[in-house]
Amino acid sequence: MRRKLAAGNWKMNGLTTQLVELDNILKSNENPAVDLLICPPATLIASAAKHARGSAMMIGGQDCHVNLSGAHTGDISAEMLRDSGALAVILGHSERRQDHNETDQIVCKKTQTAMENGLISVVCLGESLEQRESGETLQVIGAQLAGSVPDCATSDTLVIAYEPIWAIGTGLVPSLEQIAEVHDFIREKLTERFGTDMANGVRILYGGSVKPDNAAEIFGVSNVDGALVGGASLSAQDFCPIISALE
Ligand code: G3H
Repeated sequence: MRRKLAAGNWKMNGLTTQLVELDNILKSNENPAVDLLICPPATLIASAAKHARGSAMMIGGQDCHVNLSGAHTGDISAEMLRDSGALAVILGHSERRQDHNETDQIVCKKTQTAMENGLISVVCLGESLEQRESGETLQVIGAQLAGSVPDCATSDTLVIAYEPIWAIGTGLVPSLEQIAEVHDFIREKLTERFGTDMANGVRILYGGSVKPDNAAEIFGVSNVDGALVGGASLSAQDFCPIISALE
């Protein structure tokens, strides 16, 4: 049985004053059966990890380098994330694929490094609107999945997030049938590659304009094991009803 996961990606948002929301989420959360993960900007990881210590909330990063150390100005390694108290990392988010030219190959190497260094990896996949409209969605998702997930992945270290690029921060959400089609497809492809036991243990999150008012119906879709939430994870007021919607 897969435990549900409510993950928040704060992206490039949040100063130290924002950390109070972690306390608010922990205070207001009424659903202890759900795993929680908040990925603040790198500047807040160590402080966030202190806030979350001893609670059910994990803190994660939003990226890591392929290497563990070296001359890579501005980058952060998986080992550094662990050292700061992070237990997970988001990899291959479409914003990084776009802004930093991250290919599937790079995402795969980063994911392998993260896994080898004890971080749960939330690997993001998603099609553009153009790809969706030209009927290429499953082909794109299949290629990203095959190319971005390393062979060393296990059901404990891998989480997949399906995030259609056109749904991120737009208020647009795919139909429930479209979400089901992609999530079922991801499960099927994981099964083909890793076998049933492993594939059935991997959480597949949906991400893209998840809000308190649409969370319950999205979570009712087959093979949706939680959400990767952007904007609505920045306040306990919005995030807690989403957590609660995960039965
Ligand atoms: O990682 C999170 C996603 O990009 C979703 O962002 O909930 O603001 O649409 P959003």
